[in-house]
Formats: sequence, structure tokens, C-alpha cells
Amino acid sequence: MIREKLKKAREYEASAAKKIADEERPLFHLTPMAGWMNDPNGFSIYKGKVHQFYQYYPYETAWGPMHWGHAVSEDFVKWDFLPAAIAPDEAYDNFGCFSGSAVEMQDGRQMLVYTAVKESDGEDGEKIIRQTQCVAYGDGVDYEKYEGNPVIDASTLPEGWSKIDFRDPKIWWDKDEKCYYLVAGNLTDDASGAIVLYRSEDTRNWSFVTVLDRCRNEYGKMWECPDFFELDGRHVIMTSPQFMKARGIEFHNGNGNIVIIGDYDKASHEFTREYVNAIDFGLDFYAMQTLEMTDGRRIMTAWMQSWESSRVVPEGQKWFGQMILPRELSIKDGKLYQLPVREINNYRSGHREFKNVYLGKTEKLQGVEGRVWDMELEVSPNGSDIYKSFKVELVSENDYHTDIVYVPSEGVLRFDRTYNGFANDILSKRDIPVRYDGGKIKLRILLDRFSVEIFVNDGEQAFSAALYTPEKIDDVRFSSNGAARMDVDFWKLTF
Ligand code: FRU
Repeated sequence: MIREKLKKAREYEASAAKKIADEERPLFHLTPMAGWMNDPNGFSIYKGKVHQFYQYYPYETAWGPMHWGHAVSEDFVKWDFLPAAIAPDEAYDNFGCFSGSAVEMQDGRQMLVYTAVKESDGEDGEKIIRQTQCVAYGDGVDYEKYEGNPVIDASTLPEGWSKIDFRDPKIWWDKDEKCYYLVAGNLTDDASGAIVLYRSEDTRNWSFVTVLDRCRNEYGKMWECPDFFELDGRHVIMTSPQFMKARGIEFHNGNGNIVIIGDYDKASHEFTREYVNAIDFGLDFYAMQTLEMTDGRRIMTAWMQSWESSRVVPEGQKWFGQMILPRELSIKDGKLYQLPVREINNYRSGHREFKNVYLGKTEKLQGVEGRVWDMELEVSPNGSDIYKSFKVELVSENDYHTDIVYVPSEGVLRFDRTYNGFANDILSKRDIPVRYDGGKIKLRILLDRFSVEIFVNDGEQAFSAALYTPEKIDDVRFSSNGAARMDVDFWKLTF
């Protein structure tokens, strides 16, 4: 049975979506059907299709009582909207259906597990917030919340841990043990984050297993949206810490993102941490979530937005929030590598190739322009001296430009969107640490109408940022300070 609140949301989103023309949306990044989107939820495969749910408030381009929006794809690139999946319509989730995940069950149903946020009045009139984990079962379109919800509450946690900050369950099916596991984030008794592991055989009864890892005030505070999976023989935790403190150019202040690579002893459930790093160095990246593709690839998506700049919506824009183009993950030399899903290559057209372009003064390359494209370039010093800097200016013309500058002597790739055309003073600059390789650097840049994603040295670093430059601004310019040489492969992306 579709309850009233969900019915209303579905009717509203259908009519609001009709008022958003295709030209007003990105071409290959998922946006909400209407209104507001934040975290990806339930990124998973169900009956052979990719499902992507998301934190959703259809009625405004601002965060509100959270629903789950829903879209499906065959290839991570083109998405079809489905009606909103769940709405905050129960006493236990009256404040919102927060983030969570999805899994194809052994009996063929699709299960959603989410954080229910309940607000109630305390004895002195104060508001009490409680977060619990709840489930809903469905057929890929319609879902029924389980009548025994919530299935996990904070009483199962270690003594003194938070009932207010206990959220974002990520579920998976363990085919060896034939049971479900999930991880969730909690704010512990030392006022910083932890990731807790739960186990269930039937999806309704869950038992607390262990604390997989703890922040201990080292990487921010609350750890939101955790994920845990095996990759290339190692085990990986990903989480989005709140209130990070900047550290060099590795971590920035505020809502961050980290990957923890280590080993996991399945018998004792002990995770040993070995390496911690930022996942994406961009201005807009948070709340990543992964799935295992039917061919074994581990694919990650994320919200391509920062909370810090999320309160300013570009004038006239009828949606807010977008997802990254999903990425294929791997581990090399103990580090995380990321590349855009290979399916995007199917949309490349009009290949242009330039070899040995000698750089100095600013130049344009014939046919290298537009607003939706994919470009690979490799820059090297020309001669024995290493150039001081190399620059690509994107979406450039008149007063507009967005710059990517490589400074080999500093080991830094510098991004600056100050002149992208957004009329609010959002954070615009950030440095990405880049391994020094004798002045050589490889970049892959994907541009869509409202964003840019950059991959450095075959996926060693990644960077995402939203852009708001008017669509007719579409030049690309290259220059260097000092003698440099570059090879370029450029494709338009057409859909
Ligand atoms: C992360 C987050 C989650 C929460 C959701 C609420 O961006 O704060 O922890 O579940 O957003 O919309």
C-alpha cells in the first residue's frame, strides 16, 4: 500500500520534473528528479540493473524532511528516474529517512536499510532526537516498511555511545556465511566517530558484532556514511568524517572523506589499519558509497557537493545536488586508485589527437572545446629544464575561466574556479598533492555542464567540483611557464 505522504511526494516530483528541461540538467551526472539531493543511498545491483537511491527533498532546492529518491541505470551513465521510494511517514522516522543502503535478498526481493530519525518532546519541552536502523522490502519500485521496525537501536551499542548520532547502515550479503552484515557510524563516548559491525541471518534480527575502527579524534568527529569491502586482496573502510581539521594539503577543514586500507581477520572480525588517505581532493565530494558489479568491479559513487557551499543555490536552478560519474576502484602499491567507469567510453565521439604540442604562450587546439567532453593529456618537460608551471583553462572566455595548474617544483596541482561565474563567495581553490615524476604528469578531465572531474596519473588522485559557468562559454586553453610538451586525446561526449 502506498501511504499518503509518499503518494503526495510522487505526484509532486512527477509534475515538478516536467518543468525541468533536459538542457537544464547535466548530461551524465545524476541529479534529483526534483528539488534537493544529498547522499547516495542504496547504490546496488538488483535484478541486473544499477539502482541508485538518494537523500531527497522533492519540494525545495534545500534540505528538508528526508525521503529517498530513486533512479536506475544499465551502465552508470544514463539514468532513468523511478518514483520516490520512501517518505518519512512513521512515528519512528517522523524527522526523516536518513542514509542507508540496499541489497538483493535471497528470496528475490529488494531490501532497503536506512536510518530512521525520530523527533519527540521531552518532559521539559525540549526536542529529543533518536536514530535507529529500519528496513523496508520491495520489488524494485514499491517498498513496505517492516512492521517490526526499528530493527537496530542504540541499546545494542557499547555503554555510553550515542543514540543521536547512530546512522548510515551499509549492508552486504556474505555468500560464504550465508548471512547479512552491515556497518554503521556512531559518535562514541570520546565524542568522535566509530564504525560498528552487525550481523543478521534474516534481515530482521541483528546482533552487534564488533567495533571495526575508531576515530579517536584523529580524523574529524562523527564518521558518517561508512562502507567496508574487500578490494584486491586488502580490506577497505571508507567514511565521511564531520569536522575534520586541515592537515597540510592532505585534509581540508569541515566535511571530509577518507579511505582506510588494512587487513581483516574474518574469524575474529579484527580490522588492522595500515594506511589512511583522502579519497577525493575536490571542492565537492562527500558521502561515497560502493557496490560490487556483476563482473566483480568495485564501483563508487558520491555526492558531488560540499555541505559548506550547499546553502547557496544558483539563481533559477530547479534542482540541487548531483552525483559524481561512478568510479572503478583498485589498489596498487597499497594505495587507492580511481578511474571513471569504463562505460563512459561508449559515449566518446569525434576523437582528436595531438602529439608533441610545444607549449609556451596560451593556445587553443582545433576542435578542443565544448561543455561535455573527455580529455586525456600527458605533459613533459621540453628539454633538460623542468618548466615552472603548466596550465589548462577550462570553460574559458571573456571574464570566465576555471584553471588547473601543475607546479612540478611544489608537487601540486592547483585548482581554481574563482571565475566560473557563480555569484556567491563559495570556496573556490584547492591544491592536490601530486607525486613528482621529473615534470611529467598525466591528467584525465571530464567536463559536464555543471561539473568537472579530474584524475591524475591514471587514477592516483581524483578531484571533483561543481561549476556554474554559462553554457555558451566553452573554450579550452593551454599554456606553460617554461618549455613543456604535451600529447592530447580529446573526445566529445554525446548521449
Ligand atoms: C551525510 C548525512 C548522513 C545522514 C544524511 C541526512 O551527508 O549527514 O549522515 O544520514 O546526510 O540527510
